[in-house]
Amino acid sequence: MLALATLFFGVWAGLLRMGWGLPILRPTLPMSHGPLMVGGFLGTLISLERAVGLGGITSGRARRLYYAAPLLTGLGAILILLGVRHWSGPLLITLGSAGLLIIMIQIYRIHAAPYIAVIGLGALVWLIGNLLWLFGASIPEVVLWWMGFLVFTIAGERLELSRLLQLPRQVVLLFQAIVIALLAGLVLSIVNYDLAVRVAGLGMVALALWLLRYDIARRRLSADGQARYIAISLLSGYVWLAIAGGLALVYGGITAGPYYDAWLHAIFLGFVFSMIFAHALIIFPAVLGRPMAFLARFYVHLVVLHISLILRLYGDLAGDVTMRQWGGMLNAAALLLFLANTISAVVLARRRNQ
Ligand code: HEM
Repeated sequence: MLALATLFFGVWAGLLRMGWGLPILRPTLPMSHGPLMVGGFLGTLISLERAVGLGGITSGRARRLYYAAPLLTGLGAILILLGVRHWSGPLLITLGSAGLLIIMIQIYRIHAAPYIAVIGLGALVWLIGNLLWLFGASIPEVVLWWMGFLVFTIAGERLELSRLLQLPRQVVLLFQAIVIALLAGLVLSIVNYDLAVRVAGLGMVALALWLLRYDIARRRLSADGQARYIAISLLSGYVWLAIAGGLALVYGGITAGPYYDAWLHAIFLGFVFSMIFAHALIIFPAVLGRPMAFLARFYVHLVVLHISLILRLYGDLAGDVTMRQWGGMLNAAALLLFLANTISAVVLARRRNQ
């Protein structure tokens, strides 16, 4: 519920930043958009998923403690929303990300696999980014670390599934080299932001090409129903990752305005949300403990997301403010449609099981 509330107000804040004349609610709301979306919504959702996962493979009282991570990030987001003391929300979100790192270390101790190390690296870079933010760095200065969190988390999960394909050693080594290049980009951001964004952009393009070539998704395109929908969502997300990387490479260290908006949202909306749309059928039943039916109408939110993002990026790059604004509004509609379709899929699955 905390994550959902954060998503709602985070999108509201994004629309305010785009110039839509919605009620401002709180003077600090527009500038809270990034932290609400990354730390509040995605951070809470990912920490919750990991807490449920670790709880499923361990026993004892500590199981409950794992839920402190999503609780802290969710409450931190609420403090940011309410505009309570400027440091209190970042502090709770930072503590929550430390909790996620502890969860990942526990999981790695139980199962020391390379893909878990990559997902753990995601938690580590998120914590570093949050610490920099807590101690006064601006959001553009930490946004690469936040991106690293999401990119490593997703890349690690895809690496896990690609084990089924028994990829040759060189291909796995290539994946590791790409992860190191991305990491180099993040570390570089402390000394040279412009170069860092370009290096990370190169890493994103390389990762996207790797995923398009070696991820299991390509082979699932010929399947039907749910498997095909997941494959299409994943592959379209990889295309957005490549576009984001290309834009980062070209525009480098711009820290505000339309070019910044374009590469940021190609990754946050195009890549990350395509992944969420794809994985929802697996994540939500695991987290909520309820089955979910696949519905053909899932394609609607996927298509609306892609079309609206094309409009937004066109508006950003061509300097067309109206197109940019409508793209942003339709982005929000895609997320709402996704939530509505997800709820109806859970309700339908329950009816079928009765
Ligand atoms: C749903 C529709 C969304 C809208 C309308 C929106 C709108 C915006 C706008 C207008 C900006 C300011 C860009 C500039 O400097 O000109 C921005 C920045 C940002 N957005 Fe979004 N956004 C959306 C979704 C997302 C999502 C899903 C995420 C993350 C998962 C995200 C994360 C960020 C971050 C981190 C920033 C940088 C904030 C800063 O520098 O203060 N946004 N967004």
